[in-house]
Amino acid sequence: MEKLYEGKAKIIYPGPEAGLVRVYFKDDATAFNGQKRAQIAGKGVVNNQVSAALFRYLEDQGIPTHFVKLLSEREMLVKKVHIVPLEVIVRNRTAGTFSRRYGVEEGRVLPKPLLEFSYKNDALGDPLIYPEAALALGLLSEDELERIRELALWINTLLKDYFAQRNLELVDFKLEFGRLEDGRLVLADEISPDTMRLWEMGTGEKMDKDRFRRDLGGVEEAYQEVLRRVLAGVYTKSDYE
Ligand code: ATP
Ligand code: TYD
Repeated sequence: MEKLYEGKAKIIYPGPEAGLVRVYFKDDATAFNGQKRAQIAGKGVVNNQVSAALFRYLEDQGIPTHFVKLLSEREMLVKKVHIVPLEVIVRNRTAGTFSRRYGVEEGRVLPKPLLEFSYKNDALGDPLIYPEAALALGLLSEDELERIRELALWINTLLKDYFAQRNLELVDFKLEFGRLEDGRLVLADEISPDTMRLWEMGTGEKMDKDRFRRDLGGVEEAYQEVLRRVLAGVYTKSDYE
């Protein structure tokens, strides 16, 4: 089947009709701008199903998303969008690039959720971008920027609550938004342990891609456990002990 696009983690195929595409989730994992590469067995299955569950949950709460339906363990059908070339990062605690950039320890609670934007441009290494520079470059309109801020913070509130019910703390995550044919903005791409930091409440154990980035071991198990809690619904201690 002809591919429309192959990225590092997913392949986009034509959909059954115009305006729809199929997203196939691979087991390929990359970190540090593609310098570290490996396969994480079952990751594609986890990320497809976790993303589907989160898109459904967010839609139920009033967030517009590109999600249409699951097609198989590794594939979902989504509305085709023109991706706004920004990675929208929401942080609740310090971690990762933020900690390195500013020399602060990981895990400090931020006084309020912080939004950051990176310019999606592989040749430039996805640099951090000021919202004003994104506007100056014509990457999006002022109204779109306002809408993205509002949606990202709302999504953060919803996801924090969702994961807290599963004994996981949402530390940070990345979102992508896209424009439908009629110009409406929707949440696109994926939301998965590849694109979020999730820490076990109480112990702070990492349950996300940091296990791969930092060679912590138990990578597959952490992805499977996140899927298990997402599918199981609300976390109860007895389920997991
Ligand atoms: P990059 O985002 O730089 O391409 P990547 O190689 O990690 O990074 P993948 O996640 O593997 O990207 O590929 C998925 C691609 O499809 C991304 O470019 C993403 O922006 C794009 N995409 C996500 N959702 C949609 C959608 N609904 N319609 C069209 N493109 C989409
Ligand atoms: P960040 O700390 O900026 O980068 P890194 O994880 O590479 O040190 O990442 C913040 C969150 O956003 C983290 O949960 C991973 C996610 N993210 C992506 O999924 N893709 C990206 O390209 C970036 C920059 C972040």
